[in-house]
Amino acid sequence: MSNPVQKYIHGTSDTEQLRLGLLNRITNDSFIRYLGDLSESRVCDFGCGLGNLIAAVTGRFPGAVISGIEISEQQLKSAQETNRRHPNVTLIRGDALKSGLPADAFDLTYCRYLLEHVADPVAAVKEMLRVTRPGGTVACQENDLHNVIYYPDIDGLDLLMGQFCRLQMELSGDPFVGRKLFDIFRRAGASDIALSFEPEIYTQDEPDGYRAWLSNAHDILFGARDLLIERKTIGESEIDVVLAEMRRRIEHPNGVALFYWNRVRATKPTERL
Ligand SMILES: C[S@@+](CC[C@H](N)C(=O)[O-])C[C@H]1O[C@@H](n2cnc3c(N)ncnc32)[C@H](O)[C@@H]1O
Repeated sequence: MSNPVQKYIHGTSDTEQLRLGLLNRITNDSFIRYLGDLSESRVCDFGCGLGNLIAAVTGRFPGAVISGIEISEQQLKSAQETNRRHPNVTLIRGDALKSGLPADAFDLTYCRYLLEHVADPVAAVKEMLRVTRPGGTVACQENDLHNVIYYPDIDGLDLLMGQFCRLQMELSGDPFVGRKLFDIFRRAGASDIALSFEPEIYTQDEPDGYRAWLSNAHDILFGARDLLIERKTIGESEIDVVLAEMRRRIEHPNGVALFYWNRVRATKPTERL
């Protein structure tokens, strides 16, 4: 079902599931505001992961009818468990590049933190457009790892992030997909493509602030630790020193984290693609 050269860099360990849950907790509200009014809409979530975002969408818009597609059996099971009580949610196992969903079926199709993991993001967006009705909306929020800033600096972190990005590219992902969204959506055949940023600005003064954001970064790098060492990309002691420093910094009283997500909203043209 999956592209044989594609490997999901984050995996599905318990630590990773907690990390993704935390990331959902701190980024769902603003993303749902970005999606707009979804009452009575037919919605599709590509690469729905643990299904937390779907649960948040139906919590806000109980009349929305939502389908989610997810390639990993383990993630899908969690998503089904989380959404089991909601009659309007359908979750299926499938590949975002070839979903098997009917054409022209949804008013809005979105993905979030997915395109950085697929070997062919243009094919994924083409598929999102195919399942969306003519005149409907396709949207996403993605990562670009060049714009991560922590203050005070953490020694060795830039180097480690560079090695992580290289690993993700070797696994057919793209840590810099955020800057490419206009190109990807245009090549997929979308119209009215509108780009925007969603800033993330964190200090210790917010309850889910610097601590949460730096924990998220730590857990991403920790999740890739064994693969980085196995591939001799970085030495074991070198990576462990940086990870230990990150853990220490999580409590820094004046720590600041700055980042932005790349967003895109576009329309499926009314004439045939
Ligand atoms: C970082 S998670 C994001 C999950 C969710 N969209 C969210 O915002 O929390 C990426 C998810 O995409 C899934 N995925 C990766 N490649 C996929 C593909 N080709 N088709 C469908 N899902 C895919 C992974 O299994 C994982 O659950």
